[in-house]
Amino acid sequence: MGKNEFAKRILCIGAGYVGGPTMAVIAAKCPQYKITVVDINAARINAWNSDSLPIYEPGLLDVVKQARGRNLFFSTDVDAAIMEAEIIFVSVNTPTKSFGEGAGKAADLQYWELTARNIVRVSQSDKIIIEKSTLPVRTAEAMSRILNANEKGIKFEVLSNPEFLAEGTAIEDLNSPDRVLIGSQLTPEGIKARDAVVEIYANWVPKDRIVTSNVWSAELSKLVANAFLAQRISSINTISALCEKTEANVTEVSRTIGMDTRIGSRFLMSSVGFGGSCFKKDILNLVYICQSYGLTEVADYWESVVAMNEYQKHRFVKTMLTAMFNTVAGKRIALLGFAFKADTGDTRESPAIDVARQLLDEHARVVISDPKALDNAKIDLADYVDRLEFVEDPYEAAKGAHAIAIMTEWKDYKGLDYKKIYAGMERPSFIFDGRNILDHQALFKIGFNVFPLGQPPLKYY
Ligand code: NAD
Ligand code: UGA
Repeated sequence: MGKNEFAKRILCIGAGYVGGPTMAVIAAKCPQYKITVVDINAARINAWNSDSLPIYEPGLLDVVKQARGRNLFFSTDVDAAIMEAEIIFVSVNTPTKSFGEGAGKAADLQYWELTARNIVRVSQSDKIIIEKSTLPVRTAEAMSRILNANEKGIKFEVLSNPEFLAEGTAIEDLNSPDRVLIGSQLTPEGIKARDAVVEIYANWVPKDRIVTSNVWSAELSKLVANAFLAQRISSINTISALCEKTEANVTEVSRTIGMDTRIGSRFLMSSVGFGGSCFKKDILNLVYICQSYGLTEVADYWESVVAMNEYQKHRFVKTMLTAMFNTVAGKRIALLGFAFKADTGDTRESPAIDVARQLLDEHARVVISDPKALDNAKIDLADYVDRLEFVEDPYEAAKGAHAIAIMTEWKDYKGLDYKKIYAGMERPSFIFDGRNILDHQALFKIGFNVFPLGQPPLKYY
């Protein structure tokens, strides 16, 4: 099919965890559109053009293979792709700022602004620009100013279409999203642009799941969705601490409150802490925005969600230390799982990073095991690499260990032969279940001292 035979030419700038899967699904669902994904990172683009994709996501390779070379193209030629596209999704990274005003909280918009300036420089025709990245509320205003300050008479309409996919389930989430949100200016041009984007999603998403709003509500809704999800985890994690003092069981409490349809059952799993590239970043961004509007109490409220998450990670290590007679120095400890959640190789903000570092600071001999995340783990812990072992096989990792700690809820960890593992461990043998996924009674019967989260420990001393 030649260039002009496509009904729309769509570009995505940023071939990361969001840009890659999202565009692959649009391309698979809409063979009538030409979809190009560009990135400045050539290694990433090469990987997207190969069979070892740059990210691990169940089902992704099949979707990519369905469309790649037909109507899905990965390229580093950013300028050529901008020139030909009518619709541009911008999905570059928006990390927390590490310098200057707002350091540690505000979003670092440098990649964002560079992209906008590049679009203006190269464009020769009107375009719809879509914020796919997660951004502070009112970024579209700045974006629109930069884009429309051009002297070529080109008009850019800026929309917000934040992404709600979760890693590990990205393809499912994109195939059948709870909702797609498209925010626009409520001017005739804004609404025309919005309708053009609604048309893309309407190829497979039911109309009643495509929500439109003003552009500021769309930007803010993304931050708020992540803040609410993270807040539920921090809330249940506070209760896990109370359960450990009172012999209540956090799993029973979660189940019971979750049966109230007003509360709902999801995102109530107590854990060693939430991780991932976005929850902490987006909440701190929300906190910074509130602070900059003088809403101190509102900012403090949301900041406590992050503070509670730090507390939970620290509390987990403290439980390990106390249980193991107040010292782990020289003891081999196997961390099973390093990804921030199951079914991904992503380790960004994984609670396992903090747990590993705290244990290393206590002079433990830490062994890291994970089916998909060992390469990233080596980068995350590069400064400690001489004092660590990385072992993919959990049985090998646990050999000679005093303790095992479950860091990621990989399904495989439920089905391990714990009798065999126990046989190879030091005595007394400890297991700390940071995800509450194991059969604690069965482990206790084998001989382990078992420390679940938010439940009384099962121990022989
Ligand atoms: P990522 O770091 O995986 O990917 C971003 C990509 O953008 C990188 O490959 C980078 O090289 C590229 N890039 C940066 N500047 C560029 C430029 N000027 N031109 C071309 N490419 C450029 O990030 P991600 O996880 O895909 O997240 C992207 C955005 O989506 C963030 O704002 C994030 O908050 C949001 N988000 C992420 C998720 C998720 O699950 N990871 C989910 C929803 C929303
Ligand atoms: C999250 C949101 O779920 C997505 O909607 C959003 O698009 C995305 O952030 C984003 O903006 O980046 P993600 O971080 O990929 O997605 O994964 P989640 O499933 O939300 O898990 C986040 C963390 O919370 C993980 O560490 C997970 O183990 C933990 N978690 C989750 C719990 O500790 N308990 C729970 O009950 C649920």
